[in-house]
Amino acid sequence: MTLAELLPSTGCSTAPALEPGLWPDGTLLAGSDLVLGGVPATRLAAQFGTPCQVLDELSVRARAREFRAALPDAEVVFAGKSLPCPEVYRWMAQEGLSLDVSSAGELALARAAGFPASRIVMHGNVKTAEDLKAALQHGVSRIVVDSVDEIGQLGALARHGQEVMIRVTPGVDAHTHAAIATGVEDQKFGFSLASGAALDAVLRVAGQPSLRLVGLHCHIGSQVRHVASYEEAARRMVGLIASCGVPVGQLDLGGGFRAPYLPGESSFDLFGFAHRVRGTLHRECALRRVPVPRLLVEPGRAIVANAGVTLYRVCAVKEGTRTFVAVDGGMSDNPRPSLYGARYAVRLVGRGGPTKPVTVVGRHCEAGDVLAENVPLPADVHAGDLLAVPVTGAYHHALASNYNQVCRPPVVAVRDGVARPVVRRETEEDLLRRYP
Ligand code: LLP
Repeated sequence: MTLAELLPSTGCSTAPALEPGLWPDGTLLAGSDLVLGGVPATRLAAQFGTPCQVLDELSVRARAREFRAALPDAEVVFAGKSLPCPEVYRWMAQEGLSLDVSSAGELALARAAGFPASRIVMHGNVKTAEDLKAALQHGVSRIVVDSVDEIGQLGALARHGQEVMIRVTPGVDAHTHAAIATGVEDQKFGFSLASGAALDAVLRVAGQPSLRLVGLHCHIGSQVRHVASYEEAARRMVGLIASCGVPVGQLDLGGGFRAPYLPGESSFDLFGFAHRVRGTLHRECALRRVPVPRLLVEPGRAIVANAGVTLYRVCAVKEGTRTFVAVDGGMSDNPRPSLYGARYAVRLVGRGGPTKPVTVVGRHCEAGDVLAENVPLPADVHAGDLLAVPVTGAYHHALASNYNQVCRPPVVAVRDGVARPVVRRETEEDLLRRYP
């Protein structure tokens, strides 16, 4: 007997088939209910309330393993900013990944998770004195320096032998949204390769007796589609390594591997990346007569995005020039549509039937608080219905705010039929605690 047969049916099975590639592994339909990690969405909504961010543990672990299997010689560093949560960091530690943190706050979560300091890398275009001190105190293995000021500050604070990498802007356009394209010139991240600032940073680090240069880093952007963008970055970075004049043992090509958000979108070609980038590295290094550095990658979204599903309750349906379906969350739990024009698929849980195009909007006091435009939902959609939005595992909990003093939703991990919060729902007491 299958799991779907064992679970209680919620009525006729008119729900459309699950869109391939978008939902967590093992998601299934039981009757018209949606079953996530063995737990029906209706039960999750009843037990934990809505909005509720559901995270499928086995999907997260499976993606982490895929990265390690595709790149067995590389260090795979989970970008902790994509889903800051001690329990998720613990899963990553167990799967043998390293962790990238970009602030003392993310480092505090890593410490709470018991993440080994020897596998933590600290990033950020601005690291305050507190960030740097926290990193040094905890003994994080590598700090990626991002400005001349920081090299001086870190040099003065660090004890002998602190390992550093230099963040380089390689001038590679990853063809992604401008707000998350970080490899091109004329922006705040890194030292420009083209202007010579990156080479100058190498000399400055060498001039700090307490620092030891172990690698170069670049991160060309997020939601990067093409392996060719990474090949180009690898070529340019090896060129820089060759002109450094000092040994550079590590090359970190950052994260950015695209995740599919809409039906029909493909996943990033991870095995193509592994094959082609490794080939590029070996060729370029042979050509320039430098040893092949150890490769590092820093995936965030590609590991957690498709493991997440957000459940919302419909609060009102308004008919006008179009149909607005208003839910109990919005830009406070998902600002990505307003920030990056991100688009999402939406599914009604518990019923199927003929559909009509609707616009799903949030509860916040802004016309731009739109979660999904022009998505098909059953024509009789009404208040009380439960909606599920897939691909909400990355940068949702991370970007959530209390706008309009709406409390942030929990993150509920599901696995083998068991659900448990790994981030609890924010309460009004939490909000009030900050006001003296
Ligand atoms: N490494 C560095 C240095 C980064 O800055 C980032 C992301 C990553 C790795 C991971 O990138 P990923 O594999 O997750 O694409 N809030 C935006 C995304 C911002 C990405 C910031 N840096 C969004 O919701 O699309």
